[in-house]
Amino acid sequence: MAIELHDVGFTYPDGSRAVSGVSLRVEDGERVAIVGQNGAGKTTTVKLMNGLLKPTEGEVIVDGESTAKRTTAQVARTVGYVFQNPDDQLFAADVRAEIEYLPRYLHWDDAKRETRVARAVELTGIAPHLDINPKDLPAAIRKFVAIAAVLVSECRYVILDEPTAGLDQRGFALLGTLLDRLQGEGIAVVTITHDMRFVVDTFSRVVAMAAGNVIADGPLPAVFCDDHVLNRSRIRRLEVAQVARDLRLGDQAVSIDDVVALIP
Ligand SMILES: Nc1ncnc2c1ncn2[C@@H]1O[C@H](COP(=O)(O)OP(=O)(O)OP(=O)(O)O)[C@@H](O)[C@H]1O
Ligand SMILES: [Mg+2]
Repeated sequence: MAIELHDVGFTYPDGSRAVSGVSLRVEDGERVAIVGQNGAGKTTTVKLMNGLLKPTEGEVIVDGESTAKRTTAQVARTVGYVFQNPDDQLFAADVRAEIEYLPRYLHWDDAKRETRVARAVELTGIAPHLDINPKDLPAAIRKFVAIAAVLVSECRYVILDEPTAGLDQRGFALLGTLLDRLQGEGIAVVTITHDMRFVVDTFSRVVAMAAGNVIADGPLPAVFCDDHVLNRSRIRRLEVAQVARDLRLGDQAVSIDDVVALIP
């Protein structure tokens, strides 16, 4: 089981070319970070993964079936997408109604609905806010409400578009725990982020995009220790990688632990 992009291109109806020749594979239970500067095509790529957009060239295959043959709602049941901006996603009058929307739409029985809602609420730590209008909550909590509204589904892949924007230390810790628990359940998580510290601490595979193309895909050093990739995706060299270079410890260190291990 996997999400596969085969030589995918996408042009928006107004003629904007967003991605070209993108090939990617996300395995069941895998954890992948997508990085790249504004306009690189990250959001377009993940919307192609969950069927919100259909490729204008190439093919996107989710668990063996092309998204071209399925409705967005069908694909979204397998691949959940948490929007970059929660305001594009949240619409209900209170948090509880927001989380219960999908279970009610799908006519789940009470027991199943309550179990799934309780799990989503617990995973995202939003229990204190259930009776509040999402619009009245701080941005960081709105983000977790948006995540809960997706986790309530039975999707096997979850896409988080910029989940770290506006998070404080507590939010980061909660997000880290959430990712670990999803991985424990065998759910794949694809995360777009501009926070390189978060990538290094939380992911082992990273995809870098620039100008609508995938320019690197692999273990962390494939992006963070390659000057060409860093320049094209406008990512600053990690301080720790610079220290390793200055100490002539090689070009593959992305963490303090790596540096320590390399010291003769
Ligand atoms: N709805 C749209 N209509 C037309 N062009 C769009 C639309 N959405 C995105 N684009 C264009 O497609 C390209 C890729 O945009 P996309 O949103 O996928 O990038 P991104 O990497 O997610 O950027 P950001 O980091 O700013 O979120 C950009 O040139 C953008 O202007
Ligand atoms: Mg984006």
